[in-house]
Amino acid sequence: MTEKNKYIHQVEECVVFLREQLPFIPSLVIQLGTGLGGLAGQVKPNLILPYHEIPNFPCSTVSSHQGNLIIGHLHGTPVIILQGRFHCYEGYSSKEVAFPIRVLSLLGVRTLVLTNAAGGLNPAFAPGSIMIFRDHLNLLGDNPLRGPNVDFWGPRFPDFSIPYNPELIKVALESAETCGLDKVVTGVYACIPGPSLETPAETRWLRGCGADAVGMSSIPEIIVARHAGMDVLGLSVISNVNDPDKMQPILLEEIIAAAGLVEPQLERLIIEIIRRIYATKTTR
Ligand code: HPA
Repeated sequence: MTEKNKYIHQVEECVVFLREQLPFIPSLVIQLGTGLGGLAGQVKPNLILPYHEIPNFPCSTVSSHQGNLIIGHLHGTPVIILQGRFHCYEGYSSKEVAFPIRVLSLLGVRTLVLTNAAGGLNPAFAPGSIMIFRDHLNLLGDNPLRGPNVDFWGPRFPDFSIPYNPELIKVALESAETCGLDKVVTGVYACIPGPSLETPAETRWLRGCGADAVGMSSIPEIIVARHAGMDVLGLSVISNVNDPDKMQPILLEEIIAAAGLVEPQLERLIIEIIRRIYATKTTR
């Protein structure tokens, strides 16, 4: 079997499995990032599938990430939660990282909301800000669409002139206002491969490139979602702000602790966003 056919086969096998297992297919998936898995606790679950029980799903090697696909209702709205994600720095290709999103797109899920923890680069940001993605820089050196295209899944050269749905950005900003959150901003997310953190020179360069925040995740999933015609809303919790002239050590424990402090606000924001956009629509 060629590499292309093997990947198609793995995706299709997983689609068939999930179509049999899932009691319904929500139109919305929420993928939760580092230290931000708590929203899953607010879901009234119909089914919880550990990633290792799902055919061909990658399994996270990062201890701060639980690996569960949860289907249920979040304050009445049908959702799929991906609790835990995969990263290129774990050794996965970006195609593998985006595997769950490819599968969910083929099941009919139309919107991806994702969260992550990121380092701030914009000096106007403060730790604890929530940044809504307005645009991104893919600096992974990899692209999940590399290799032969599957035309049924999406176009060979997908347009990225409007990567993030302006309507969703507007809803997110309005939701922040409703929730009384004053540290919600929009910005450009730069995705680096990691796992080494940025040097002062890299930080200066990223700022000069127009990045407002930097992290090591999410872009493979976003590229696949857009290729499949899904709408995407990206939300970064700014856990630290990096100044190239006064670099401080960036420690994972501190990133997780900072994300945990903002998590309740992020949860309120997401609940308000999905209340506004997705009432009780299902695709089946
Ligand atoms: N750099 C890269 N990834 C991150 C950071 C950072 O400063 N903070 C949280 N994730």
